[in-house]
Amino acid sequence: MSDKKTGPTRPLRSARWFRKDDLPGFVHRSTLAAAGWSREDLMTRPVVGILNTWSDINPCNLNLRALAEEVRTGILEAGGIPFEVPLMSISENIIKPTSFPFRNLLAMEAEECIRAYPFDAVVLLGGCDKTQPGLLMGAASAGVPLIFLGSGPATPRSATGGDLANATGVWRLVDQLRAGKVSEGDFAAFERCVMGTVGHCAEMGTASSMATICEALGVSLPGSSLIPAVDRRRNLYAREVGRRSVRMAAKGSPRPNEILDARAFDNAITLLCAVGGSTNVIIHLLALAGRVGVPLTLDRFDEIGRRVPLIANVQPAGEHLTERLMTAGGVPALLKTLKPFLHLDARTVDGCTIGEIIETAEVIDADVIRPLDNPVRSGETLVVVRGNLAPDGAVMKACAADPKLFRHRGRAVVFEDVQTIADRIDDPELDIDENSVLILRNAGPVGAAMPEWGMLPLPCHLLARGVRDMLRISDARMSGTAYGAAVLHVSPEAAVGGPLALVRDGDIIELDVPARRLELCVAPEELERRRQAWQPPAPKHTRGYRNLYNQHVEQAHRGCDFDFLRGANEETLPEGLF
Ligand code: FES
Ligand code: MG
Repeated sequence: MSDKKTGPTRPLRSARWFRKDDLPGFVHRSTLAAAGWSREDLMTRPVVGILNTWSDINPCNLNLRALAEEVRTGILEAGGIPFEVPLMSISENIIKPTSFPFRNLLAMEAEECIRAYPFDAVVLLGGCDKTQPGLLMGAASAGVPLIFLGSGPATPRSATGGDLANATGVWRLVDQLRAGKVSEGDFAAFERCVMGTVGHCAEMGTASSMATICEALGVSLPGSSLIPAVDRRRNLYAREVGRRSVRMAAKGSPRPNEILDARAFDNAITLLCAVGGSTNVIIHLLALAGRVGVPLTLDRFDEIGRRVPLIANVQPAGEHLTERLMTAGGVPALLKTLKPFLHLDARTVDGCTIGEIIETAEVIDADVIRPLDNPVRSGETLVVVRGNLAPDGAVMKACAADPKLFRHRGRAVVFEDVQTIADRIDDPELDIDENSVLILRNAGPVGAAMPEWGMLPLPCHLLARGVRDMLRISDARMSGTAYGAAVLHVSPEAAVGGPLALVRDGDIIELDVPARRLELCVAPEELERRRQAWQPPAPKHTRGYRNLYNQHVEQAHRGCDFDFLRGANEETLPEGLF
């Protein structure tokens, strides 16, 4: 049986655990009797897993426990059986050495958890940056119907009556502090309130970018992504997510690859460009596409980026926080404005197509959600550059950079690692001026698990002179809340012998954004000599997860997934017992 909107009805996975009158069936049912479930319940009702990344070391996800209760209520109301499973919580600012490698660990945990347990559908509860893609990647490979609900943005308030406190504000304030333009007292006041409520970062950083594109991908309920974490409407969405998940569980449909097709990724990239979203999302989308067999490449981001203007007036590229974007109409209104660029027939877990969702949407504030002919800023938001310095590509958030640097030639100042930057950047002996090109290497996926070091600090003496942007190039990532002329994700990275490893102080680097070129202006023979002399760095990790990570992580242009995790198993049931 099949219908147009929700796809075929499939046999319940959970029936293989609970609906057999044999010894395994007895064991499974009798075990869960201790959790309050009767033989009749287990024999007749679909089962939904609630995968929860709540933790009190992760304030971005701190409301997920309450939301899980609402999801549970919705599942019970709709006649399903809820089971909540705690998964690893990746707390962006706290977890060390950097959050990024744990995305793949969470993805593995989520996939194996779903496959090993009798879930007919799963609700994914994430919020902070890496919890969203980790859950999605794992669930996509597990192949069981999924629906994603985020924790929602925080609602920070002003520290000093001035700008609202948020992570983008922190970066600006740090620059002002280093330039001697802000007092220690104001800085301390900012520290006390910058994370003043639960919820993820409230500008269009990585978390808000991932949450909004989940609506465009079709894996979240329309309108759900930007409701603040503390807003009661999020709880109502959670209950609806629970109810919806039971309908998906009962049908075994739609499966992730029936939602996450090439149209869904195009729509997500379109929205990402329109909101000036985080460059990290590029990596996450590439990895997610790899899980569902969509042949997505960096070039697709550049193709879509060339035609989609920045229409969401939100930080860091614009003025407001995401709460204003929500009250201006939210993602459905953004999608309505972007209609000419979208695949309207793409399906969603809501049962509607994207085209049906935007029919009832409305732009309420045209300063916050701009019409296509009055963008927040002209020009592309995200660009992909290539050249002899980045043969497999590198990315730049053009809308958050000073356009004066889009065509730039300058002398390289090379830093081998982040500690050297800290030690040397303010050294009066350092030969650097505003035209210099700051290079950081050995910060790629293998080199350092790709921390968010790509927004290299500027020298104090240049900040004091009013310099606010310089060209920076690295194989690192950059926080979605950050800004500046940063060429990121240079691929292949220095630690595996990419050309970034061959740059020397004083080499001329040329960036040409309109031509999408990034060149190291050194003669090929000289580069070849340097290549012959290059030695790979000694492996830092000889055991444990980081050893596994370094052996299997793919380069940034492929999404930094593990090579052995690409794709999905055909069979959603685990082997054994049956
Ligand atoms: Fe968690 Fe920004 S620190 S979303
Ligand atoms: Mg981040």
